[in-house]
Amino acid sequence: MRTRPLKVALLGCGVVGSEVARIMTTHADDLAARIGAPVELVGVAVRRPSKVREGIDPGLVTTDATALVKRGDIDVVVEVIGGIEPARTLITTAFEHGASVVSANKALLAQDGAALHAAAGEHGRDLYYEAAVAGAIPLIRPLRESLAGDKVNRVLGIVNGTTNFILDKMDSTGAGYQEALDEATALGYAEADPTADVEGFDAAAKAAILAGISFHTRVRLDDVYREGMTEVTAADFRSAKEMGCTIKLLAICERSADGTSVTARVHPAMIPLTHPLASVRGAYNAVFVESDAAGQLMFYGPGAGGSPTASAVLGDLVAVCRNRLNGTTGPGESAYADLTVSPMGQVVTRYHISLDVADKPGVLAQVATVFAEHGVSIDTVRQQGKDGEASLVVVTHRAYDASLSGTVEALRKLDTVRGVASIMRVEGE
Ligand SMILES: NC(=O)c1ccc[n+]([C@@H]2O[C@H](COP(=O)([O-])OP(=O)(O)OC[C@H]3O[C@@H](n4cnc5c(N)ncnc54)[C@H](OP(=O)(O)O)[C@@H]3O)[C@@H](O)[C@H]2O)c1
Repeated sequence: MRTRPLKVALLGCGVVGSEVARIMTTHADDLAARIGAPVELVGVAVRRPSKVREGIDPGLVTTDATALVKRGDIDVVVEVIGGIEPARTLITTAFEHGASVVSANKALLAQDGAALHAAAGEHGRDLYYEAAVAGAIPLIRPLRESLAGDKVNRVLGIVNGTTNFILDKMDSTGAGYQEALDEATALGYAEADPTADVEGFDAAAKAAILAGISFHTRVRLDDVYREGMTEVTAADFRSAKEMGCTIKLLAICERSADGTSVTARVHPAMIPLTHPLASVRGAYNAVFVESDAAGQLMFYGPGAGGSPTASAVLGDLVAVCRNRLNGTTGPGESAYADLTVSPMGQVVTRYHISLDVADKPGVLAQVATVFAEHGVSIDTVRQQGKDGEASLVVVTHRAYDASLSGTVEALRKLDTVRGVASIMRVEGE
C-alpha cells in the first residue's frame, strides 16, 4: 500500500459534509485498505467558521473555498455546498488545478452537467455524483456501468422522500395535503420552504440526470416537464383506491416506441397497488428500471439524510481515489445517442379525469363525443348523481398528452360541464 496519502478537500460541512468527514475519520483504515493508500482531509470550506463542528480539526476550517481548490496538491474535491454558485466555479477551478471531483449537487448537474463533464475531460479528471440522485441508493453507477451493455427503455422513480412521505400520509390516514405537509414539517421531513420538493423541482433535476445517463443523450432541467403535488386531494386518493391504485409523485424517463426520441417528466400519478413502487412508504425512494436484456430492476432505499447520502459520496471517493492511483479516469459523459427530447404533448399514457357535470339526460353522450373528437378512447366511465349535479369519472385508454389537453379544453367549454375536478395520469400498468 502507498503510504503517501491522497489529499481531499471538503467543500461544505453541513448535513452531508459533516457525515462525510465523520466516516472518513472513523473508517480511515478500511478506506485506506480499499483504496490502496490513506486519504487525508486537508481542508474544510464553510460559510460560518465559528460554528462548532464535532470531530473536525478547527485548523482545517476555512471560508476561502477558492484558495482551497487552487492549492494544486489536492487529489479530490468533495463538493457538498449545493446550489449553482459558487459550487460551479469551485468545481471547474478544482479541475483546472488538477483535482477530481465528487459532488452531491443535483441542481448543478441537471443544469450544467455537460459543461462540467467537458471540463473534467479536458483536464483528464473524474466527475462522480452518485449522491445527486436518490441519496444512498446506487443508481448512477448501475446505469452508467452495470447496464452499459443493455438498452434502458424506461426509468420510473420515486426520487423525493418529502413528497412520498406526504402522499403516503394522505393515503394511509385520509388526511388532506396541508395536514400531511404540516406533519412532514413537524417531523423534519419537509423544509420550512418546501417549494423545491412539493412543486417537483428537486425530482425534475434528478429526472434530467437519470434520463441523460439512461438514454446517452443530453437532457437538461428545462427539458423536463414538471407538475407539483400540491393539488392532490383526499378525493383523488379515494378515486385511486376505487381503481385499485395509489398516488405517487413520479419521475418518468421514457424512450419512445420507435426508439428515436425520449421524454422526461415529473408529476403525480396513479399507479396500481400491485406495482412495486406502490409499496414504497414514508420518506423512502425507489427507482424502477426497464431494459431490453435485464428486464425489470428495482433500486430501493433511503433517498436523503446525512449519513445515507455520505455513504454514496464515500463510494465515489473510493472509486475516484482508485482511479487516481491507477492514473486513469472512470466513464465520462455519454451523450453519443443524441436522441430528440420530445415535449410533454408527445407522451402517451392513460388518464383519470374527474368532471362535475349537470345531472340531466344526454350529458354523458356529449362528453363522450368530445373525447372521440380528440382521438382519446374511453376505457371506463362512472357517474354519480346528486341534486341535479353529478360527477363523472372517465378513465381513458392510452392517448397523447396533447390530445388529452385538447379534450379537457373542449370539455371546459361545454355548458353542462361545471368544472374539471382533477386530471391524473395513470402509470405503471
Ligand atoms: N441533505 C440531504 O439529505 C441531501 C441528499 C442528497 C443530496 N444532497 C445534496 O448535498 C449538498 C449539500 O446538502 P446539505 O443538506 O449538506 O446542505 P447544508 O446542510 O445546507 O450544508 C451546506 C454546507 O455548505 C456550506 N456553504 C454554504 N455556502 C458556502 C460557501 N459560499 N462557501 C463555503 N461553504 C459554503 C455551509 O456552511 P455553514 O456550515 O457554515 O453554513 C454548509 O456547511 C446539496 O447539493 C444537496 O442537494 C443533500
